Amino acid sequence: MRARISPLRRRIEAQGVRVPGDKSISHRALMFAALAQGESRIGGLAPGGDVRSTARCLAQLGVPLVRGDGTPWLPKARSLEFPQDDEPTFVPPDRPKGSAPLPARDAEMGPDDALVFGQGLREPLGQLDCGNSGTTLRLLTGICAGAGLEATLTGDPSLSRRPMARVAGPLREMGAVVETAPDGRPPVIVRRGHPLHPARIEAGVASAQVKSAVLLAGSFTDGETVFTEPARSRDHTERMLRMLGANLRVEGNTVALRGPADLKGFVLEVPGDLSSAAFLIAAALIAPQGGAMQIEQVGVNPTRTGFLDALALFGAKLKLELGGAASSEPVAKLTVSAQKLAGAQLDGDLVLRAIDEVPILAVLGAFAEGETVIRGAGELRVKESDRLAQMARGLRAMGASVEELPDGLRIEGRGRLEGGAQIDSAMDHRIALAFAVAALAAQQPCTITGAEWADVSFPGFFRLLRLLGAEVEIVS
Ligand code: S3P
Repeated sequence: MRARISPLRRRIEAQGVRVPGDKSISHRALMFAALAQGESRIGGLAPGGDVRSTARCLAQLGVPLVRGDGTPWLPKARSLEFPQDDEPTFVPPDRPKGSAPLPARDAEMGPDDALVFGQGLREPLGQLDCGNSGTTLRLLTGICAGAGLEATLTGDPSLSRRPMARVAGPLREMGAVVETAPDGRPPVIVRRGHPLHPARIEAGVASAQVKSAVLLAGSFTDGETVFTEPARSRDHTERMLRMLGANLRVEGNTVALRGPADLKGFVLEVPGDLSSAAFLIAAALIAPQGGAMQIEQVGVNPTRTGFLDALALFGAKLKLELGGAASSEPVAKLTVSAQKLAGAQLDGDLVLRAIDEVPILAVLGAFAEGETVIRGAGELRVKESDRLAQMARGLRAMGASVEELPDGLRIEGRGRLEGGAQIDSAMDHRIALAFAVAALAAQQPCTITGAEWADVSFPGFFRLLRLLGAEVEIVS
């Protein structure tokens, strides 16, 4: 699918904007609800392709996920531009006897709300297809190993290129038998019949996916699982475990979980995804005709707010009004207006806390005046695509001067971008979204091929751009 995006000719004036639910929190909420005993009610789940993958896989593991009227729940594909034809085909198992009554009508639940009935997991029939989602594959590997289930986890061509030894290694230290392809890539096979024991794991990489896989596996064991990472990655799993009453200690970069965790069904509201909001914030900052935008209910967990700190380094002003914590996570209303940006040096902990926002930060670097250097982002080479290479290639095609570093980018910002380029998303939602925003503020229209990949985290993004006054033409 190709999307042709023209420079914005209108001011942005948008109040009360809502972004999709946080993807990281949505995966975890569904998985913890699957492990808990009894009913859980989760509101505001991320509607994109990645969380669909988690929902499908959990259904294959025997977990009933339903809407208010009892029909199977899957996040609805709501991107009008890119209708999906893979509507749910599974039938959920019967609800356990003695379950509380369902809400009278589906209308009581929004399309992104789900009821989950935790009643244990069963071995999946067939492979668990995790689609494009690394979080699904890595976290479910931990769950299958902990639950002693035989499972084969696969993904699409992008996910099939991503490293899994980082998860297989620690789980093996806990006694699991986990196989990968010879180069450590998917498919990942978890063998049954190898009960796990708690272990002390020293991770070589700061990765919330690895940490979460180990903690999820550890939640099935009897004793203390201790996980140390080189730097503190996002802590949604720890927050959720604590909210559910698990016996958890956090000290610096070390988390210790005493299992087995006795989890009970819960109610949780997922905040908006700052990683998705980042694209809209960037669009408002560089909007050629100026204007302002206000985004509500955005998650501002401090392990995720490196993007906001980076904006301050670019010299940007943003208003943040904290309020209405969604369960275990802080949320805020963000207000931002168009403004001039100065080049910035971004590295260390800030980059780890903005790891998914580096593509859009690179776009902002190109629109800033002066040099922007991003370092400490080597992990971007093993995301849905090699994001450093894709950003360097795409920004150059739009007329920017960019040097690719082993772990980052050096960008000569000139306060503007020429555009007039054709850019491929490389099966990577954040590349599609970052270049769509760049195109809005460029001098010439740009075409994004593989634009439908935006749906992985932000279905309806192009529709939203149109609402903001953008000219978005779906070419094929
Ligand atoms: C995620 C962790 C990060 C992040 C990804 C989501 C998570 O990946 O980039 O988009 O939900 O745990 P790593 O664990 O590979 O750093």
